[in-house]
Amino acid sequence: MSEGDRLTELAKRRGFFIQTAGSYGGVAGFYTYGPEGAALKANIESAWRDRYVTREGNMEISAPTIMQEEVFEASGHLDGFDDMIIECPECGESHRADHLVEDDPDSTVEDAEALPIPDVEGLFEDHDITCPTCGWELAGEPVEEFNLMFETNIGPGSSDPGYLRPETAQGIFVEFPQLAEYARNQLPFGVAQIGRAYRNEISPRKALVRVREFTQAELEHFIDPETDEPPLWRVEDVVLPLYSAEQQDADDGGVQEITVAEAVEEGIIQSDWIAFYLGISKAYYERIGVDMDRFRYRQHLPGELAHYASDCWDAESEIDGDWIEITGFAYRGDYDLVKHEQYSGEEYSVFKQYDEPVTVEKPTVDPDMGYLGPEFGSAAGEIVTELERLAASDPDAFEGDEVTVEADGEAYTIPVEKTGFEIEEVTESGEHITPHVVEPSFGVGRMVYTVLAHAYETDEVDGEERTYLSLPPEAAPTTVGVFPLMDKDGLAERAKEVANQLREAGLEVTYDDSGAIGRRYRRQDEVGTPFCVTIDYDSLEEETVTVRERDTTAQKRLPIDELPGTLSALRDGDATFDEF
Ligand code: GAP
Repeated sequence: MSEGDRLTELAKRRGFFIQTAGSYGGVAGFYTYGPEGAALKANIESAWRDRYVTREGNMEISAPTIMQEEVFEASGHLDGFDDMIIECPECGESHRADHLVEDDPDSTVEDAEALPIPDVEGLFEDHDITCPTCGWELAGEPVEEFNLMFETNIGPGSSDPGYLRPETAQGIFVEFPQLAEYARNQLPFGVAQIGRAYRNEISPRKALVRVREFTQAELEHFIDPETDEPPLWRVEDVVLPLYSAEQQDADDGGVQEITVAEAVEEGIIQSDWIAFYLGISKAYYERIGVDMDRFRYRQHLPGELAHYASDCWDAESEIDGDWIEITGFAYRGDYDLVKHEQYSGEEYSVFKQYDEPVTVEKPTVDPDMGYLGPEFGSAAGEIVTELERLAASDPDAFEGDEVTVEADGEAYTIPVEKTGFEIEEVTESGEHITPHVVEPSFGVGRMVYTVLAHAYETDEVDGEERTYLSLPPEAAPTTVGVFPLMDKDGLAERAKEVANQLREAGLEVTYDDSGAIGRRYRRQDEVGTPFCVTIDYDSLEEETVTVRERDTTAQKRLPIDELPGTLSALRDGDATFDEF
């Protein structure tokens, strides 16, 4: 059984995730988190919020998931957010053409998405690639672009198209003018969002890995590219497992273990900001339970970069021998803010105050409308605009007797004396700049899947095979299982009291009194509950309980009144089980 199949079986049986509406046959690419999965996901999100919002002093917002067409025209998603599709003429099934090429056993192509369509069509011919559903030969079938956005109509009728957001980021970018005000126009500042994103994936696969509705946790960090530096000193000694573009070209699969400081110094990571985020994120992945022996940061190859990105690294986890992108770290530059400024007509910049006011020479025009009006009629207004533009961009053009501008496709020559051209000295207190954006973008579902896969363990206890999830206590859906040894003699009542006392202390508690104690332990082991508390006859007499640790199955006797503090410290990583 593959790691993925094993996980899907456990996930369904124990309530981590199931295919949505299975009784109706289900639809590929939609999953519902069960009670254990929803709790695990919430813990991963709350650790993310703690790391990227609270501890970094960033803001968090919550935007709608549907926005109007203009937003996605501006962002480039309407035109460029496509995958390659090939349809089988025999069974009618559609497939991701680049994935079929990569999956073909004879193909050595690792990143077919970066290839032009004719090359991908050529590979179908060269390798006789067939339809995975019915086996039909797909050579000669057209490969086309397929836009991944889900379209809808806003209000009745179809005059106002809207789209379900394909990334949460756009909900942040469109609000930039307001957000900059909330940040008192002081760069750098970061805005985070955790929310749903939607992509009409051609071939959803591997359970939570490629789905059509998923949760992203994204941070958009707005910086002044001229002056803002990240606090690299905080992470300079962190060792990163890097798989750079150069290593990928060398094709040896090797990962280079190198500190953040060295990676920056050697130019392997081009952006200091990306290096900073790779540094702080490593501790986050460890905290939620990603196995660092099955983890790497992979640099994007030049053909692979998204339409907005200039330097990009992915955090990848290994499952079943495949590497899965769990986070994208992108330097988006000013792409998004410039586009939204162009399309909305609003200013998407911040006013940057100089330390001291500066005096600058500013070319200006003050055209003589008494001349321009009668001479050029309705074109006069446009000519004035072009003269202003020319004065700002090329003041030398006004050095002769005449100056020529183009307006509405026609050239107009104007005597310079009629333009009112002058170089004025002005004192400026600052300037408007468009910030650049650094973006760590996390897929929450892929992190849940990774954490579950990496936590899955088996061993032997009392001669029987045991399956357990070795989740970090902070991430585990339940922190404590509370069991009465037997459901009689007041043991159940006392156990319920203890369970309530622990809940009052803010711990996630499961009470279980059904079946043999060994079976109750196994149930909690399988959902990753790190500690179980058993109330026995001595508990009634001595006010102590047995506390069992999941991974080692070691047991200790602890006083009941110390349980809330002890278990909270164990959950928060402030103590280890050996200390008690
Ligand atoms: N704002 C940038 C952005 O959306 P992305 O690399 O397309 O970048 C970010 O997506 C993360 O979202 C990925 O690293 C991945 O973890 C997750 N993701 C993307 N598509 C997904 C899908 N179809 N199913 C599950 N997670 C997905």
